[in-house]
Amino acid sequence: MKVGFVGWRGMVGSVLLDRMVQEEDFKNFEAKFFSTSEPGQLFNRKIKFVRDTILLDAFDVECLSECDVILTCQGSSYTSAIHPKLRKSGWNGFWIDAAKTLRMDDDSTLVLDPVNHLAIEMALNNGVKNFVGSNCTVSCLLMAIGALFKEGLIDWVSSSTYQAASGGGAGHILELLKQMGAIHQSVESDLKTLTNTILEIDKKVLDQQNKFSDDEISCFQVPLAGNLIPWIDHDMENGISLEEWKGHAEINKILGKNHLDKLNSIPVDFSCVRVGTMRCHSQSLIIKLNKDISLNEVEGLIQSANKWVNLVANTREETIHNLTPMSVAGTLTIGVGRLRKLSFGSDYLGAFTIGDQLLWGAAEPLRRALKYLI
Ligand code: HSE
Repeated sequence: MKVGFVGWRGMVGSVLLDRMVQEEDFKNFEAKFFSTSEPGQLFNRKIKFVRDTILLDAFDVECLSECDVILTCQGSSYTSAIHPKLRKSGWNGFWIDAAKTLRMDDDSTLVLDPVNHLAIEMALNNGVKNFVGSNCTVSCLLMAIGALFKEGLIDWVSSSTYQAASGGGAGHILELLKQMGAIHQSVESDLKTLTNTILEIDKKVLDQQNKFSDDEISCFQVPLAGNLIPWIDHDMENGISLEEWKGHAEINKILGKNHLDKLNSIPVDFSCVRVGTMRCHSQSLIIKLNKDISLNEVEGLIQSANKWVNLVANTREETIHNLTPMSVAGTLTIGVGRLRKLSFGSDYLGAFTIGDQLLWGAAEPLRRALKYLI
């Protein structure tokens, strides 16, 4: 089997390759590496089991169509430009994608196998050829509380997200770090001498945030360091952001429900906020249960759903150490904690969950989808 990789140099692509090396996935197929910018150059990574080292042209449809599988983390513009051409040329291979472009198409299946492996198997049996990773908050949420959905216990969910800079890509993380550095520089002498009052220092920080040049905020458009941004992705012009729209649409699709069907879909409402963390997305959840089950039962269901959940006891000590972006960064752990019945009633459950946006949020479901196909 020939598998072509596109967009393997970006953040998600790099994390994907690292995971595949770790799991020795490359021994199972022949890998081809494509490039949108440097076809003909040498592939500059040494990977066990990978022999072909010349980069192929990611815009060459004929060359792409020699692959049985194309796995792309190149982004939605690439998918929009190439996928239709490739299909039109008669190529009938598997397309695995991180981008949003094809997610809601009828002939695409969203992949998150710990939650929907049966749907993936059924799709394969039915000849589906497009397999797409879902939005990162969606994957991380379902990895955390998918069991409660599956057991039919949920009336609706409200999620307030705290999304890391990495969701925008590598450039966004770098922008955040540069802003942090500039802010620190603006008060560095004050921090050493401590002659200015905290209010004077605070004022200098705000002045610095206000005077960032267009270049210094080119990714987020406003400063993220020492700030937060309660809007992610496009404006749908009906009061919600595209990121928020994806929550309801994609979760319901993964659960096998039509998100437009008001009677049968499960209402999921997101409020999406960008915060100055590195690579882990956090979510504060209000879950309306449709029956008053005990916290013990809830914990049991969540814990036994998959081996990556780390149930964190709802105490200050456990929470501040084990339910933070730092505690899960670079791992497949999905932290779930702050589980409690809310004051609104015993059928209202509060929870907080965190996952690495680049792993379960993006690369890992694709890696596992590829394994399924093979
Ligand atoms: N859209 C997400 C974000 C990242 O901006 O955080 C990928 O799903």
